[in-house]
Amino acid sequence: MVPGHLFHKWGGGIAPDFPRIERADEEFLFTDDGRRIVDAAAGAAVVNLGHSVRGVEAVAAEQLEDVSYLSLSHFTHEAPEELARKLAERAPGSLNASFFVNSGSEGNESAFKLARAYHRSTGNPNKTAIIGRWQSYHGATLGALSASGNTSRRAPYQPMLQNWPHVPPAYPYRWEYDGTPEAQAVAAAGELETAIKQHGAENVAAFVAEPVSGSSIPAARPHPAYYEEIRRICDRYDVLFIADEVMTGFGRTGPLFAVERYDVVPDIMVVGKGITGGYTPLSAVLVGDRIADRFEAVPTSRSSTVTRSVATRCRRRSAPTSSSSTPTTFWRPGALGGASSSRRSRRWRTIRTSGRSAAPVR
Ligand SMILES: Cc1ncc(COP(=O)(O)O)c(C=O)c1O
Repeated sequence: MVPGHLFHKWGGGIAPDFPRIERADEEFLFTDDGRRIVDAAAGAAVVNLGHSVRGVEAVAAEQLEDVSYLSLSHFTHEAPEELARKLAERAPGSLNASFFVNSGSEGNESAFKLARAYHRSTGNPNKTAIIGRWQSYHGATLGALSASGNTSRRAPYQPMLQNWPHVPPAYPYRWEYDGTPEAQAVAAAGELETAIKQHGAENVAAFVAEPVSGSSIPAARPHPAYYEEIRRICDRYDVLFIADEVMTGFGRTGPLFAVERYDVVPDIMVVGKGITGGYTPLSAVLVGDRIADRFEAVPTSRSSTVTRSVATRCRRRSAPTSSSSTPTTFWRPGALGGASSSRRSRRWRTIRTSGRSAAPVR
């Protein structure tokens, strides 16, 4: 690699003074000058599995040999169908349909567009605003940044952002509300009701929040009464609740999804990062039945053409009808069952299934 041609992220520019990584192994990064670095941050909170875990490359190669790319606006394939089915099995409530895109930012963009499309389909075309929270981060693209409340990341692009409302963060340590932790949580959630009324409920499509805060106020989380009150307010004003689980999803806070800490189910849940542990770009927008049902007849939003995007209705999937001899390969955590004795390959195993009839693309 010739220094000076690669444009790095987050202000790194074209000639950053960064360590040069030669290889990575599980939790370690190895530099070209012989240092071993513990990647305690797991990249940008992405590498949930560890680096270069053996076996993943073989599974990926096998998939590339079978089908390397499909335009999922015209075709379907068992791999995304199977992943969507597994997500539906593990996600809370009726989050049964997955829309696949490439990054957390794009996932939130898609969630916002789906929220708008949903309201449009119910005769509420003015419900377009997305309410976010200060000290939150939902992504680098302009829509996701508009909903974000991280002021330093917003500042350089402020004139290009949507003028959407923001409410105070779910940050109990800094709250100045009176009463018990529960009463404070209810008061904090009440800020959403105030913002909806100020902006006009007829103009608000959704509220987006990280169930446990990530990069802006790491690990801040409110009393469960906060999200119960948020759910009540969203229902009252026909505002969709979008849980941004891009950072918290796939076990980062303990349960598979952080929202499982609370007795609420979001209308839309966005996951990314840990869904693949960084082995391939992928994020998913999980949509509840009430919303997904609207798209039986209404064309959904567009997304990137280079994507794994397909809105798959898992619960109405066609039953297996053929026993094709061509296997399809996907992954699941080895904890669900694995025969190998090696430490690494115990983590992941390949599952082979028979070919199945294609479900219609929604
Ligand atoms: C909560 C949250 N949402 C969205 C994003 C954006 O995801 P990506 O960087 O994959 O676009 C991030 C990234 O850090 C995040 O932490």
